[in-house]
Amino acid sequence: MATRILMVCLGNICRSPLAEGIMKSKVDTSRIMVDSAGTGGYHLGEKPDARSIATALKFGIDISGQRCRKFAAPDFKHFDIIYAMDLQNYKDIISLARSDEDKKKVQLLMEGVSGETLEIPDPYYGGEDGFDRVYKLIDLACDHIANKMKNS
Ligand code: 4NP
Repeated sequence: MATRILMVCLGNICRSPLAEGIMKSKVDTSRIMVDSAGTGGYHLGEKPDARSIATALKFGIDISGQRCRKFAAPDFKHFDIIYAMDLQNYKDIISLARSDEDKKKVQLLMEGVSGETLEIPDPYYGGEDGFDRVYKLIDLACDHIANKMKNS
């Protein structure tokens, strides 16, 4: 099972920083490495969006130390599994793949989480409530992934 996990969205300031923080809270981080990145480069070096930081804090998770970076082809080598938040992120990551092996590493975060949407909606242009829904979806997906890892 994967030991190096990369969470990817568009901006790497709203969804994937939450996914990184939530996933780290559910696994043994001395054994499993979790990072995040964005397919776009609009906010490089910035902290996560204040709404993501506040939402995570409501659940006891501090993501304020994260800094935005852009996804790049060498990430295929450095990670075992790459989780895309939505279908556009998935396509953008796949477009940088250099082999079938690279492509096989990419999955939608919500894949296999029954009864829920397949995509984590982009909350950037919405209000606070959008972030609560995003948190809940990512939390469900990370529970699913962490359980799968425990049982493998
Ligand atoms: P994220 O949200 O992909 O969840 O980090 C976004 C953040 C910033 C932008 C778009 C989406 N932006 O266009 O700047």
